[in-house]
Amino acid sequence: MSSARPLFVLNRACEMREVSDACRKAGKKLGFVPTMGALHRGHVSLLEESVRRAEVTVASIFVNPTQFGPGEDFDRYERDYEGDIKKLKGCGVDYLFYPDISDIYPDGFGTTVSVGNLGDCLCGPFRPGHFNGVATVVLKLFNIVRPDFAVFGRKDYQQLKIIQKMVRDFNMDIEIVEMPIVREPDGLAMSSRNAYLSADQRTKAAEVNKALSEVAKKFRSGCDDCKILLAEADMVLRMAQINDIDYTEIRDPETLELRQRAVKGDLVALAVRLGNTRLIDNRVL
Ligand code: PAF
Repeated sequence: MSSARPLFVLNRACEMREVSDACRKAGKKLGFVPTMGALHRGHVSLLEESVRRAEVTVASIFVNPTQFGPGEDFDRYERDYEGDIKKLKGCGVDYLFYPDISDIYPDGFGTTVSVGNLGDCLCGPFRPGHFNGVATVVLKLFNIVRPDFAVFGRKDYQQLKIIQKMVRDFNMDIEIVEMPIVREPDGLAMSSRNAYLSADQRTKAAEVNKALSEVAKKFRSGCDDCKILLAEADMVLRMAQINDIDYTEIRDPETLELRQRAVKGDLVALAVRLGNTRLIDNRVL
C-alpha cells in the first residue's frame, strides 16, 4: 500500500471547487470518498476502488455535527489526522478536502434535506435527525466536489440507500458505487466506533456477525418466516449477553419495507449496544 502520488490538502470549499473545475475541463474522471476520518480497512477499500476507477480521487474528512444527536459521540468521535494522511497517501488519493466547520455550515446556514420514509425505519427512530444530517452534508459535499462518482460501503446500508434515493430524487448526475463490508478475521464489521470497545465488549462484538450468519443458515435450510429467522439472531446475541438490542429486522433491500416472509436478496439488519457503543451490521440473504 504505497504510492508515489502526492496528496494535496484543501481546506476551503472554493479551493476544492477550483480543483474540480480544472479536472472537468481536462476531461478527467473524478472519484469521491466522503468520510469522517479515523480511517480503517473498510475506508481503504473504498479509496482503492475510487483510485482504480478514476484519474483523480478526492477524499473528505469532516466529522459532521448535524448527524449526531444530543448525547451521541460527536465530541469523542475518533480523530486521527496523521494516521489518516498516511492511509490516504498509501492508497494514492490525490486530494483531501478537510474543511473547517464554518466552511460547511457558515453563519446563517438554514436549508436542510429531509430524507422521507427511508429514514423512518431501522436506525431512524433510534437516531432522530441523523439521516437528514447525513443527506444534507453529503449533498453539500457533492456540490463542492462535483465528482463523477462517489463510493460508499454497505456497512451503513440504510445510509447508502438514502443517498442513492437522494441522487435519483434530485436528478444528480453522480454514480453511487457500492462496496462490500470489510470484516475483522472474527467477522466483526470494520467501524471507527470499534475503537471504543473494551476487551470484553470486543469479544462479544464478534457475535453480532454470527447472529446474522445464523439467520442466513436457517433461511438456506428452507425457513422463510421472519419471526423464526430473527429468533436465531436473538438467541446468538442473548447467549453472548448482548441484551441491549435496538432492532433485528428483515426488510426489502431497496424499499426497506418490513418483511413477514423472507425472499432471497432480502436485507437482515441489526443494531445493538455494548455499553455506550452502538454497533450496526447487516447481510443480504
Ligand atoms: O459514513 C460516513 O462516514 C458519514 O455518514 C458521511 C457519509 C461521511 C457523511 O458525514
